[in-house]
Parts: sequence; structure tokens; C-alpha cells
Amino acid sequence: MDFNTLTELTKSRIKIKVSRHNKTESFAEDVLLGLSACKKTLSPKYLYDEIGSQLFEKICDLPEYYPTRTERRIIERNISEIISVCSPETELVELGSGSSTKTRLIIEAFLKKYHRLNYIPIDISRSILVESARFLQKKYPKIHISGLVSDYIKALNYLTNHHHDHKMIIFLGSSIGNFATDESLVFLEKIRKSLAPSDMLLIGMDLVKSESILIPAYDDIQGVTAKFNLNLLVRINRELGGRFDLDKFRHRAIFNKAQSRVEMHIVSIQKQTVRVDYFDREFNFEQGETIHTENSHKYSPLSITQMAERTGFEVVNCWYDENKWFSLNLMKPA
Ligand code: AVI
Repeated sequence: MDFNTLTELTKSRIKIKVSRHNKTESFAEDVLLGLSACKKTLSPKYLYDEIGSQLFEKICDLPEYYPTRTERRIIERNISEIISVCSPETELVELGSGSSTKTRLIIEAFLKKYHRLNYIPIDISRSILVESARFLQKKYPKIHISGLVSDYIKALNYLTNHHHDHKMIIFLGSSIGNFATDESLVFLEKIRKSLAPSDMLLIGMDLVKSESILIPAYDDIQGVTAKFNLNLLVRINRELGGRFDLDKFRHRAIFNKAQSRVEMHIVSIQKQTVRVDYFDREFNFEQGETIHTENSHKYSPLSITQMAERTGFEVVNCWYDENKWFSLNLMKPA
């Protein structure tokens, strides 16, 4: 069993399991590999330490960052139709639940209709998961929460082995867009394999649009996204004894049209060498050289249908906002 039960919550009705793994080791291994590559990269999953998760919450409230509020509006406007596909037995399983703000709309409507609910939030950040579970339990006494602090893959393996036949997996915010294209297909397939024929997937996917909207969403005027991105270097400094001077790096967001994705990079503003004590070695940076830290893919309605078809899903319903900036898709195993 790869999960430990979190004992600090045993007095409450909340159950949370934490996936067992050596965090520092895998972070260190990935940083070493990423910074040694000829095209330097760092995985976006490391953006979400405690500080990074808080910064991401702030990003979601920025005027330039349209995905959160647009998806929320889509849920609000279509909530009865969304709930109409659930039965009283449906369990809501949320991948990357964060503070569960948008899901609260679904939780509330579900409880109004069925009066009780099993909710399984899954998030990599233990602090955010615990805080949000406590909040939800207090606000909705009829909810039963069994959360998992875990990455998505371990969580899906767990779900596949602890099967419940009436699930709606919720994957909001277009987080699927942060996977490489082939990884997103493997991931969707993995979700599909964890589903029983009567289960469903409710997935938010961001749509292609003009760069004049996309770029500010990933490079806001207040510099919150820049801080979020550069926090990766802060993390390396703190956890691995890195000597990155943050004044010598800056954040950049570009739209890669060929790949239909916004990319986040950390740019070295001068030629420099940075030591990381944990590896007892130095890394060289040319002026203008970048560390590629995140991809955020943007889809078309056609590419969404094709992805669904290739991974054994059928899109049964799809909701958009009035500008067609974002989509919420209800899929079923085909
Ligand atoms: C979590 N994910 C869907 C966000 C996105 O839009 O790709 C992460 C993010 N990166 C910068 N801003 C937001």
C-alpha cells in the first residue's frame, strides 16, 4: 500500500491519505536531469510547493487570467444540466482539487438535490487539501470527504484498485493542457481505464484564442505569474542549496502556434554559472538561454473530440462561454 493515513484529522470525519515517496530525492533527480539537458527544463509539477500553490490561487483571481472565471461561469450557467447526469450514488472524484472553489458549485447543487455526497479530492499539496477539506466539512455537514495527497498517476492507480461504480471524475482548469501531447493521451487513457461503464469524466479544456488574450494571462502586469515561475529557482535554492540570483533571471511567456500552447520559460539575462550544493556542481547559462518550465496547451473543439476518440471516450455534452474561450466537456467511456 503506497498511502499513509493522515492522523491529524482522525477526530474529524475527514479521511486523508498521503502517498508515500521520497520528495527530496525525486525533486533532486529531476532538477539534475533538467538542468543538465542541452535544452534546460524543469517539470511544472514542481511549481506547486506551498508558496507556489498560494501564488497559483492568486493567479486564478487575476483580471488577465480568464480560465478560472470563465470556467466558473460555464459551471454556474449549466449546473442543473451537469447535475442531471448524476445519481444519488455518484461519487465526485476531483483531480487537482486545490481550494475546490469551482467544484463547490457542483457540490452545493448535488447536496441540494441528493442531500448527501462522497467527495474525493486529490491534490499534490497537502496543506491546501487539508485546509479545503476542513472548510468544506464545516460548510456542508452532509459531505463525506476521503482525500488523497498524491500525484495524479498514483491516485488513479489507487482509484482503479478501490473501485466504486458511480463516479464522476472532475478535472477542471484545463490542467490536462500542462501535459505533453502524448502524455495527455496516455493520461486520458489511464482515466478511462479507471472508469466503470457508468462512470463519467467532466473535464475543462482551454480553447485557442488570440495571443493578445493568451500572453497577458501568462505574463500579468502585477508579476504574480513571474513570481510563480521564478519560485522554482527559490525552491532549488532552499531545498537543494542552489545559488540562483533571482535578479539575473526573468519570466517569459510565449505562444507556440505550431504546438498550440503557451510556454513559460525562465530566461538567464546574462552569461553565468550557478552552483547547486546538493549536486556539488555548477550549471552554465548563456545570455538569453532559457529553462522551459511549463506548457499550457490550447485546444479546438475538433481536437478535443479527436483526443476523446483516441483515448476511448465519447463526448456526450460540451458547454462553452459566450466568447468560446473555454470548454467544459462531459465524457463517457465509448
Ligand atoms: C494549472 N494550469 C492549468 C495553469 C495553466 O493555465 O496552464 C497553470 C498556470 N501557469 C501559469 N499560469 C497558470
